[in-house]
Amino acid sequence: GRVHRLAVIGGDGIGPEVTEAALTVLDAAQARFGFTTERTDVPLGADNYQATGDLLTDDTVELLRGQDAILFGAIGSPAVTPGILERGIILALRAALRQAINLRPVRLYPGVPTPISGLTPERCDLVIVRENTEGSYVGGGNTVHRGTQAAVATQGSVNTWYAVHRAVDFAFRLAQQRRGRVTLCHKTNVLVEAGALWSDVMEEVAARFPDVEHDYVHVDAMCMHLPVAPERFDVVVTDNLFGDIITDLGAVLQGGLGVAASGNLNIEGTAPSMFEPVHGSAPDIAGRGLANPAGAALSLALCLASLGEGAAAAAVESATATVLADLPALSGEQMGASTAELGERIASVLAQGGTPGAGDGT
Ligand code: NAD
Ligand code: IPM
Ligand code: MN
Repeated sequence: GRVHRLAVIGGDGIGPEVTEAALTVLDAAQARFGFTTERTDVPLGADNYQATGDLLTDDTVELLRGQDAILFGAIGSPAVTPGILERGIILALRAALRQAINLRPVRLYPGVPTPISGLTPERCDLVIVRENTEGSYVGGGNTVHRGTQAAVATQGSVNTWYAVHRAVDFAFRLAQQRRGRVTLCHKTNVLVEAGALWSDVMEEVAARFPDVEHDYVHVDAMCMHLPVAPERFDVVVTDNLFGDIITDLGAVLQGGLGVAASGNLNIEGTAPSMFEPVHGSAPDIAGRGLANPAGAALSLALCLASLGEGAAAAAVESATATVLADLPALSGEQMGASTAELGERIASVLAQGGTPGAGDGT
C-alpha cells in the first residue's frame, strides 16, 4: 500500500489539541482510502525551549527534511518573549525547508455561519498566495536607546526579483486552473521601492499568461473589498506581511480563525511542505477543548492533496464542511462540542463515505 512519512508538530496552546483532532480525521481517511502514514512526533515549542534552550536544531531540520509532509499546529506562548518562538521555529522552518509559497484558501462552505451579513458560498471562493520567505519578515533592523525616550528602531524589508517572481508565477499558474484572474495586493503608493518591484514582476509574468486577467488593489482597500465583495477575487498574490494580515480577515469571511487552512509549499520538491491552520496558539482558550479543529482538518486536506491522495483530500474537506454546517457556533462554549468530539464527528462522517462534493482539496 501507499505509505507517507508525516512529521507532526503540535506546538503550543491549542496547537496540540487541534492537531490531535486532525489526526483522528487522518485515521479515518486512511481506513477508507487504503493508505498509511508513518508518523513522527516532533516536540517543538515553548515547553521544549524552556526545557532544553533549543528552538530548532540542525538535527531536527534534517529529520523534517526526510519526511513527505509536515503537519503543524501552532506556536507561541505568553511565557516566552514574543518573536523568539515564532521567528526561531515557524519562520526558521519555512526558510530552511524553502517553503516559498503560503497558500491560504478563503472559502465559505454551504450552511456555515459567517459574520459577514449576506455573504454566500458562491461569492466566497478565492485563494491568497502569500510570499513566504522575505519582505519585512527578514529585513533585519536596528534599535538604539531601547527603553528610553530616545529610542529609535528601524525594521527593514527584503524583496528580491527571484522570490517575488516565484510567487507571482505560481499565482498565475494557479489562476489558469481556476477562474483566470490574479490580483496583486500591495501598497505601491507608499512602499515605492518594493511596490515597483512587485508591479514590474506582475507585468512581466502577465505577459506570459495572456489567458489570465490581472489587476491591482492596495492593501488598505483590500480590507474593504474582501468582506464586501470577495467575488471580485480569484487568486490574490501579495507580500509576506500583507498576506499575514489579509488572511486573518479572509478567515473571518469563512466563519472565523478556527476554520482557515494553509499550506507552506516547497514548490521545487527539495523539501517537504508544511500544513497548518492560519490561527495561532490561542492561549486565551488553550487546554479546555474550546478550539475549533476545522482549520487543522482542512489543512490536513491540503496536505493529503499534496501527497497525491486527492480522493482522501476531497473527502476530508467535505466531511469537515458537513460538520461545520451543523454547528450552532464556530468557537467556544457555544460550539456545543469539544475539539476532540469535533475531530471524531468529522472522522465519522468521513467513515460513512458521504460523497465528496463540497470540495476538491484545493
Ligand atoms: P490566535 O490566532 O492564537 O488567536 C486569536 C483569537 O482567535 C483568540 O481569541 C483565539 O481564542 C481565537 N482562535 C484562534 N484559533 C481558534 C480556533 N481554532 N477555534 C476557536 N477560536 C480560535 O492569535 P493571537 O492571540 O494573536 O496569538 C497567540 C499566539 O499565537 C502568539 O504567541 C502568536 O505569536 C502565535 N501565533 C502563531 C501562529 C502559528 O503558529 N502559525 C499563528 C498566529 C499566531
Ligand atoms: C501565521 C502567523 C505567523 C506569521 C507568525 C506566528 C510568525 O501569524 O502563520 O499567520 O506571521 O506568518
Ligand atoms: Mn498570521
